[in-house]
Amino acid sequence: MTAGIRTVSLRFHYYVALSTLIFIICTQTESHASSHITLPSIRYRSQPVTISVADHGATGGGVHYDTESIQSAIDACWSAGGGRVVFPPGKYLTATVFLKSGVVLEVQKNATILGGTRLEDYPAEQSRWYVVLAEDAEDVGITGGGEINGQGLEFVVRFDERKNVMVSWNQTGACSGDECRPRLVGFIRSRNVRVWDVHLNEPAYWCLHLVQCDNTYIHDMSIYGDFNTPNNDGIDIDDSNNTVITRCNINTGDDAICPKTYDGPLYNLTATNSWIRTKSSAIKLGSASWFEFKGLLFNNITIVDSHRGLGLQIRDGGNVSDITFSNINITTRYYDPSWWGRAEPIYVTTCPRDNTSSTGSISNLLFVNITATSENGVFLSGSKSGRLSNLKFLNVDLNYKRWTSYDDGLVDYRPGCQGLVNRSSAGFMMEHIVEVAPLATTMVVVVSWWGQQLVDGVVVVLWTALRLAKDDDDGDGDKDDDDDAGALKDLAKPNINPWIPGASNRREQLNWALQRLSIRNAQAHIFTGPNCALRFSSTKQF
Ligand SMILES: *[C@@H]1O[C@H](CO)[C@@H](O)[C@H](O)[C@H]1NC(C)=O
Ligand SMILES: *[C@@H]1O[C@H](CO)[C@@H](O)[C@H](O)[C@H]1NC(C)=O
Ligand SMILES: *[C@@H]1O[C@H](CO)[C@@H](O)[C@H](O)[C@H]1NC(C)=O
Ligand SMILES: *[C@@H]1O[C@H](CO)[C@@H](O)[C@H](O)[C@H]1NC(C)=O
Ligand SMILES: *[C@@H]1O[C@H](CO)[C@@H](O)[C@H](O)[C@H]1NC(C)=O
Ligand SMILES: *[C@@H]1O[C@H](CO)[C@@H](O)[C@H](O)[C@H]1NC(C)=O
Ligand SMILES: *[C@@H]1O[C@H](CO)[C@@H](O)[C@H](O)[C@H]1NC(C)=O
Ligand SMILES: *[C@@H]1O[C@H](CO)[C@@H](O)[C@H](O)[C@H]1NC(C)=O
Ligand SMILES: *[C@@H]1O[C@H](CO)[C@@H](O)[C@H](O)[C@H]1NC(C)=O
Ligand SMILES: *[C@@H]1O[C@H](CO)[C@@H](O)[C@H](O)[C@H]1NC(C)=O
Repeated sequence: MTAGIRTVSLRFHYYVALSTLIFIICTQTESHASSHITLPSIRYRSQPVTISVADHGATGGGVHYDTESIQSAIDACWSAGGGRVVFPPGKYLTATVFLKSGVVLEVQKNATILGGTRLEDYPAEQSRWYVVLAEDAEDVGITGGGEINGQGLEFVVRFDERKNVMVSWNQTGACSGDECRPRLVGFIRSRNVRVWDVHLNEPAYWCLHLVQCDNTYIHDMSIYGDFNTPNNDGIDIDDSNNTVITRCNINTGDDAICPKTYDGPLYNLTATNSWIRTKSSAIKLGSASWFEFKGLLFNNITIVDSHRGLGLQIRDGGNVSDITFSNINITTRYYDPSWWGRAEPIYVTTCPRDNTSSTGSISNLLFVNITATSENGVFLSGSKSGRLSNLKFLNVDLNYKRWTSYDDGLVDYRPGCQGLVNRSSAGFMMEHIVEVAPLATTMVVVVSWWGQQLVDGVVVVLWTALRLAKDDDDGDGDKDDDDDAGALKDLAKPNINPWIPGASNRREQLNWALQRLSIRNAQAHIFTGPNCALRFSSTKQF
């Protein structure tokens, strides 16, 4: 009890001490440009028409394929200049249908579009395996309050709590490997796309996929995928510009919101006001990352029960910059390690996928107003040729504790790189990080660190506060500067913090970290069980 009270008083003291600092920093923080994206409104070539699939012969019985009727209704709507194609209540089993410019599918409440489960239900090319697909279309959308369902459970060969074993359509040569299954909804090279008020459920593979799109608005909709099914990502955004995702509810086995770059850059994505649960990463940039990612904003998001919170898995040479994560509440925990993710609330990595890959850099990341409860710490790892620079953490509140019985002690560099590596966990693990956030010449860095270890019911509270009068990596010749360490003061004291072991003084431990990363108003409440050793660590120790 006494220790608990002490924690509270420290926290209170801490907020008072930092209130001015927070203000100064916030006024220096510019939000990135993404909020200026203009939202698409569907434009029609003439007076929009409304066409029911029932009038084109769809039965909605869920047994016989309605593919031709649905396609016929879409084509008629397109020929008439655009409008709505209505699915009245019923179950519409279908092979791939192609959405055309000016057409909005209105899948009404109690109506379900059911994706076919046979290989012949999909086009020959694997890149076009979707239940609903728009290619080179403009002014297209899906709405209506109903559902599109990929019947993903029909693709399970063996149900497994760890990870389901799935069918793979790799016999024809159109696709190889163990991930050959159809996606649910795709927009390829399309503009002015809007998806809202619809439920996308049980995809066999990725759920909602944007490829080289511009001006996409996804809002007030939900995605649900089986929690044990691999690859059933929520929203994958490839090589697309100006995407807005808001008020979405995403509950999937695999990554929830996943921007990637295969053939071109990705600019201006915002994802806000949403709720996410996933057995992999809630937000993941990459791992496909051949081109640039720039101008992304993630704001007001709740992440629960996930394997990883905010992740950057950069592997292919693309550069990442100007990304803001704000007002995000994260809970991350361990699951079976066959899923990428190790309970990290924040995970920022860039390293070459393999010995043919180049390495991208990551710069200008802002994490502000983040609260996390997690079973593992923050992992920030660049590589020799792919540095992380200018990462800012403002008002970040991390709570570490263990509540599952999965083993810890594995660091996850997948895919590629070093793979899974045995190494103890860290509160903030950092490698190949350069450049402190360029702030005013007089800056105060306060790292507050208090950990609590439960040992036979005794609670130990530790608190370390460091003040840095002036960071002098700006090369003005300040004699106090240490080439490597900069102007850290008062650090040559004995290492009083047992969570920072392995060096004779705190300076050795912390100068590396502080010089390369501005952790301002960051706090770590560390609750550890007997299986878990949390510590600061750096490349130099490995
Ligand atoms: C990204 O958004 C900014 C600000 O609205 C805009 O100026 C820029 O053109 C956008 N980028 C692209 C590629 O559309
Ligand atoms: C949908 O189905 C439910 C349950 O069968 C029924 O109560 C409801 O009236 C239906 N709604 C519509 C719009 O058909
Ligand atoms: C086809 O998929 C199965 C099941 O995932 C997998 O075991 C097999 O290796 C794959 N074969 C090829 C040629 O990709
Ligand atoms: C996104 O914007 C960039 C920069 O303007 C451009 O090169 C790229 O082609 C755009 N992508 C799409 C899909 O419009
Ligand atoms: C944050 O998002 C939630 C929905 O997840 C919404 O209810 C709430 O109003 C949003 N808060 C703000 C400040 O927009
Ligand atoms: C990433 O940035 C580096 C350094 O500016 C540049 O050499 C490289 O071409 C960039 N990579 C890509 C894919 O644009
Ligand atoms: C974050 O979420 C957890 C669990 O959902 C909740 O207990 C906590 O109050 C939330 N914190 C904030 C700051 O919203
Ligand atoms: C690259 O990796 C491949 C496969 O692991 C290996 O066969 C090859 O020898 C490596 N090449 C170099 C230059 O290291
Ligand atoms: C962070 O939270 C504070 C306090 O709730 C708020 O005033 C500030 O606007 C938030 N910052 C951002 C970037 O949302
Ligand atoms: C990690 O350690 C476990 C046991 O502690 C061992 O079984 C496993 O082989 C090790 N993995 C690697 C990659 O060293």
